[in-house]
Amino acid sequence: MSTDHGINTIGVIGSGQMGGGIAQVGAVSGFSVVVFDQSTDALAKCQALHDKLLARAVEKERMTADEATAAKDRMTYVSDLNYLSDSDIVIEAIIENADIKKDLFSKLAEKFTGNQIIASNTSSISITDLATSVGDAADRFIGMHFFNPVPVMKLVEVINGLATRQETTDRVLALSTAMGKVAVPANDRAGFVSNRILMPMINEAFYTWMEGVAQPEHIDEIMKLGMAHPMGPLRLADFIGLDTCEHIMEVLAEGLNNPRYRACPLLKQLVTAGRLGNKTGHGVFDYSK
Ligand code: 3HC
Repeated sequence: MSTDHGINTIGVIGSGQMGGGIAQVGAVSGFSVVVFDQSTDALAKCQALHDKLLARAVEKERMTADEATAAKDRMTYVSDLNYLSDSDIVIEAIIENADIKKDLFSKLAEKFTGNQIIASNTSSISITDLATSVGDAADRFIGMHFFNPVPVMKLVEVINGLATRQETTDRVLALSTAMGKVAVPANDRAGFVSNRILMPMINEAFYTWMEGVAQPEHIDEIMKLGMAHPMGPLRLADFIGLDTCEHIMEVLAEGLNNPRYRACPLLKQLVTAGRLGNKTGHGVFDYSK
């Protein structure tokens, strides 16, 4: 694989859990990183989390204090898209909504007409579909799917759209490696590989609970101890967000045109009730205590 990614500066759009994680990993790996969010509040929270996680890494002797300071100095937090103009790649990590993403991508393609790569961290939306929003830039548009928590999880799933050119793929594979990740290619079908397999498993765990086969904690214990999963599927659903799980099931059902991917009624009901998992303090499990 080529190591020639030609990338010095990474732009990250979205400073939530995924965007913040991608930015941190980029900066720790020696890249200059510009983190964009339209919310200055979100940027402040992201920066505070970076400070905390980097301090923890120093405490755990995974890096020196000087290295942590250098990584922090390589990150800039901005709320104007124009500051991304020096980025060699922009990685989008905003809300999983195709229309909102496309609106952003069309603005990016208008602003940045050079050789800048435009990557989406979408978990399941078709890269070919998203690339329709960037016109001629479709050949430098690609999927770069990271996993939560980004600093811990080794994988980047790299997804080519129909128009992605080989040079773009090679550069993104080399960049992922330079970020300390293992990049694995997948083709552009709904859910790619990861979520096509993970989400039906999580969905089945909800059916198993709904049908009274076992209690949630027992379902999780069986999958943790029996399959060596770090978290059971229901705890993982809470970690990912039940709304995200429901949304990905909908994308699978529509994109693969098969009703077997429909979200379990119990999953949908919890989402309707606002029980979205860790982020709301209550999902399958109660985190309020
Ligand atoms: N950022 C940085 N480091 C983190 C972190 C975070 N957000 N969360 C945990 N860590 C680190 C901790 O600091 C700790 O390292 P240390 O011992 O050196 O301090 C290490 O990870 C382990 O953490 P904990 O001891 O707190 O807890 P666990 O041992 O239970 O591990 C876990 C937590 C890493 C989250 C583990 O439970 C796990 O791997 N779970 C599965 C996660 C998973 O499957 N992620 C994929 C989700 S799917 C996805 O993202 C795709 C999307 O499209 C849906």
